[in-house]
Amino acid sequence: MDLKWFRVPRDVVFGQGTLEYLSKLQGTRAMLVTGGRSMRRLGFLDRASGYLQAAGMTVEIVDGVEPNPSVQTVERGAQAMRDFKPDLIIAIGGGSALDAAKIMWAFYEYPDLTFEQIIPIDSIPTLRKKARFVAIPSTSGTASEITAFSVITDTEKHIKYPIVSYEITPDVAILDPEVAAAMPPVVTANTGMDVLTHAIEAFVSKNASSYTDPLAMEAIKLVFENIPTAYDRGTDMSARENMHNASTLAGMAFTNSSLGCVHSMAHKIGGRFNITHGLANAILLPYVIEYNREATPKYGEIEAALGVESLARAVQELNARVGIATTLADNGEVEITEAAFRDALQEMSENACEDPCTFTNPRDTGCLDLAEIYEAAYFGSLQEN
Ligand SMILES: [Fe+2]
Repeated sequence: MDLKWFRVPRDVVFGQGTLEYLSKLQGTRAMLVTGGRSMRRLGFLDRASGYLQAAGMTVEIVDGVEPNPSVQTVERGAQAMRDFKPDLIIAIGGGSALDAAKIMWAFYEYPDLTFEQIIPIDSIPTLRKKARFVAIPSTSGTASEITAFSVITDTEKHIKYPIVSYEITPDVAILDPEVAAAMPPVVTANTGMDVLTHAIEAFVSKNASSYTDPLAMEAIKLVFENIPTAYDRGTDMSARENMHNASTLAGMAFTNSSLGCVHSMAHKIGGRFNITHGLANAILLPYVIEYNREATPKYGEIEAALGVESLARAVQELNARVGIATTLADNGEVEITEAAFRDALQEMSENACEDPCTFTNPRDTGCLDLAEIYEAAYFGSLQEN
């Protein structure tokens, strides 16, 4: 049996002011999980807590989830949950807070579970025996609120655990653009181009389907139409809302169809040079489009929908519009010297080749091809076919 499925959260609540939906949820003990200071400083943590209390719940908070959340943070949160015994878990913040809370939840429900046991795909046992999970993203990018994915870092062993289990797909995603409106322009640009990369890679993925294509295409259109305004005027709630929805739509597509080589390559150059994920994706995307073009007619469908001749060029123009460079050499964020790049090239290419995202790239590829794409993106030689 060639089993295929499409899974997303049961409830997606969207629109300005929808944080208040928390007051409509049922539960008795709610645990809020958040990152550093921004959700508290901007007042969203207090508001979320107030809505939950208005619904009759006792509230506790796990905060301080760091970027690239660690095994220790997950264990600390899981222990806090075992002590407090929530029946509702609400993650509010960036992708890190959401990713960490998902695994805290798994370890809360199964105290004897280990990281090693949950590395194989879909190996987290049945959740929701103790709590339901609500996700409220403060960036429009990772789509962790909709996906079955989480990335946790073992800071002692220097290993990132990419965890994929449909059990950790949230029950409720609340998409309130007000919560994301504080993103500064550079974050809006990088996360927004990550959304575009999710959407385009999902659309051309080998696992794309009639369920994922319309969502991916809508997300592509929304990003092209709205990222310039969201970047220029962060207070424009219409642009913010459209970008927030685009992120989730792209997430619904890619959590079911997976991604491609842009992500494989961004993961590895990010690991080596610490370049921001969305920025690496934005720069690599046009080069991978040109490489993949011979393997799929679907870029042509995107070009027709957008009314552009070359999607690769259109992406580069959009990058330029939001202050993103065209080459890895001049990425504007971290220094990557040619010597350091050459030194890393083979290892990055080999590791990117093994990345799970490579398996669903529309063109079958190998390390030598990926090295050539890295070089093209480093020096800026876009070969249009
Ligand atoms: Fe991404």
